[in-house]
Amino acid sequence: MNLMSGAIRVIDHLWNEHTSVIVAARDDILFIPYIGPSLCSADEFDTFRIDSSFFARGIVGGGLDIEVTPALIPLPSQAWTGTPGLEVFRDGTLVPLDLRLTATSWDKEIDELFCVLTDATHNVSVDVLLSLKETNVFTIDATVKNLSDGTLAISTAHFNVPVGDHAAEVMTLGGRHAMEAVQQRTPWERARISLENRSGRTSHEQLGVVFAGTSGFTEQTGGVWGVHLAWSGNFRIMCDGVTDTRKTIQIGELLQPNEVVVPPAESYAFPRAVVSYSRNGLSECSQNFHEYIRSRQPHIQRPVVLNTWEAVYFNHDLETLSSLATAAAEVGIERFVLDDGWFNGRRNDTAGLGDWYVDESVWPQGLNPIISHVRSLGMEFGLWFEPEMVNPNSELFRAHPEWALDGALAHPILGRNQLVLDLSRADVREYLFQRIDALLSEYEIAYVKWDHNRPLIGGASHQQTQGFYALLDQLNQCHPNVQFESCASGGGRIDFGVADRVNRFWASDSIDALDRLEIQKGLSTFIPIEMLGSHIGSPTCHTTGRKHALSFRAATALFGWLGVEWNLLNLTDKEKNALTSAIVFYKQNRAFLHSETFARVDHPDTSIDIRGVYSPCGDGLFSVTRLHSGPSNHSAPLRFPMLKDAGELTVEVIHLGAPRWALHRALPQWITDSPTTMSGTLLANVGLPMPSLLPESSFLLRFSQVMHS
Ligand code: GLA
Repeated sequence: MNLMSGAIRVIDHLWNEHTSVIVAARDDILFIPYIGPSLCSADEFDTFRIDSSFFARGIVGGGLDIEVTPALIPLPSQAWTGTPGLEVFRDGTLVPLDLRLTATSWDKEIDELFCVLTDATHNVSVDVLLSLKETNVFTIDATVKNLSDGTLAISTAHFNVPVGDHAAEVMTLGGRHAMEAVQQRTPWERARISLENRSGRTSHEQLGVVFAGTSGFTEQTGGVWGVHLAWSGNFRIMCDGVTDTRKTIQIGELLQPNEVVVPPAESYAFPRAVVSYSRNGLSECSQNFHEYIRSRQPHIQRPVVLNTWEAVYFNHDLETLSSLATAAAEVGIERFVLDDGWFNGRRNDTAGLGDWYVDESVWPQGLNPIISHVRSLGMEFGLWFEPEMVNPNSELFRAHPEWALDGALAHPILGRNQLVLDLSRADVREYLFQRIDALLSEYEIAYVKWDHNRPLIGGASHQQTQGFYALLDQLNQCHPNVQFESCASGGGRIDFGVADRVNRFWASDSIDALDRLEIQKGLSTFIPIEMLGSHIGSPTCHTTGRKHALSFRAATALFGWLGVEWNLLNLTDKEKNALTSAIVFYKQNRAFLHSETFARVDHPDTSIDIRGVYSPCGDGLFSVTRLHSGPSNHSAPLRFPMLKDAGELTVEVIHLGAPRWALHRALPQWITDSPTTMSGTLLANVGLPMPSLLPESSFLLRFSQVMHS
């Protein structure tokens, strides 16, 4: 007799006007046969019935005599021959339990389904919560409970997220320090594509998100499934096109054996998986993610930041920094952030981490003089910390070598001369809380840049990540008006787990505008642009040595949370005026840029980058960039499909600095006549003739709805 040969039952249809998620069971095994375009309209929803036979694929020769059910948490006991979704071990044994998880209760709400999976033989249960809300992302949560009186070690905990069988390409994001989030595409046929992050933080090398799409999906075309793990530690993502004909993406925390040991009556929560589907290309898939994060973030006005790092590095002195603050206020800066170098012993990057006391040899009267000066100029004050780290050359390490995570190893490996503190220890967290809390209480600090400048080694990151979250949660709770930024040598810790606890990400240590376009493009596939710290740097970029015009640097930084990282004491009057105007322009437009819809726009010439923000009525602000010299004199027109229903629009060309047209006998007429009026249909279908632009240059386009009285 075959087990699991029962009929498929559709349990629930989670629906909104864009997306349907079908939840089903066969022999009470929970699986999701469909995440895709909405299957009915709102009017039809009540009467809509799905024929579950659509999801039964039959049995083929050469394999098992039962049909594989690709469960949400797939197990060998369900005939799943791929990687199991859950592997647990009882009391130090070496063979995983042969789990058989079947649904024992269902609880349906309009936009959620709660289900309990139970293995009564092994006394293990899993609570699963599936949810599709109006923000148009599907979220999956689960908690494994140990119902026995022995311990339960968990070594694997993955969800199996179905995408369409017609997904034929996978896009991942990754790179390196100072060049993060570069997009990479891989064909996905009969193959398993695997990402494993063991760096202990989200990492520069690979982000915890993948996009699977139909062949050749673009920003505005194709079906795209985005799958992300809301977690800042180790993770595994596996696009599995081998185990079953149904393509699935397994996603979960990457655990070492015995890394998670659950005592009796306790539990382990999987990090949340967040899934976005779009039938209209990658940009719409990103917009769903943006809406989800926006719905969880407080609505704040994001002040223009001046960060002192590239202006003075470790050379802190009151006089210079006060002058810098004065110059900052003059160009319109609203928040002055004192970066690394202010605490005991921190004259360079070899010492001091852990000693979170203001260094009196540099700041003899503490931080009050600089903070009062900054405040008197009408700006807020922010401060840099790197709480999870310790330099061996520090008072903290000399007093507590046992607090260092790597210090426990016989041969500790340093990274930027530092070790990692063990945040699973309550005493370590308590020390860090006390120090940061004391400084946030003593001084008027509006903002903390929270850094993390080295990877972890040794493979385990669960407790460390939980410890980091606990510390940050405690600080957020005690200082609700302080904003936090997540930085890890730039963009090494960017994910939805930390996004719930911070307001800003430092996207990269490279503020080279050309590289930033690439980096911010990648990050914008899942992070809303207003969270991406985006600075106007000095004319020659410190990390690449490349020179860029201010108009290009400013146009790039505009599509983020604007900041400046440039020694303003060296500016010419011309530069000062241009920077002031760019900041004024940001302030005039930030409410729009930070709340409306962001898109990257398709163009057939890959040397042209178009991105911007638009509202439902067709108001829009876009940048058009010539990345490098293109192959032809006349590039294809700039088409804006999102404006197709916008009616009549005024089109205006804007430069944040001097225009950088390439040699032209005559510019296109719409530019010489700017502002001019056009219909949204023309902009969407015919497009604006592209002017010839110097490489590494941008201009802005503003679309405004024509008001008819
Ligand atoms: C990291 C950050 C930089 C800066 C330095 C300070 O590299 O990414 O922005 O804060 O640390 O040491």
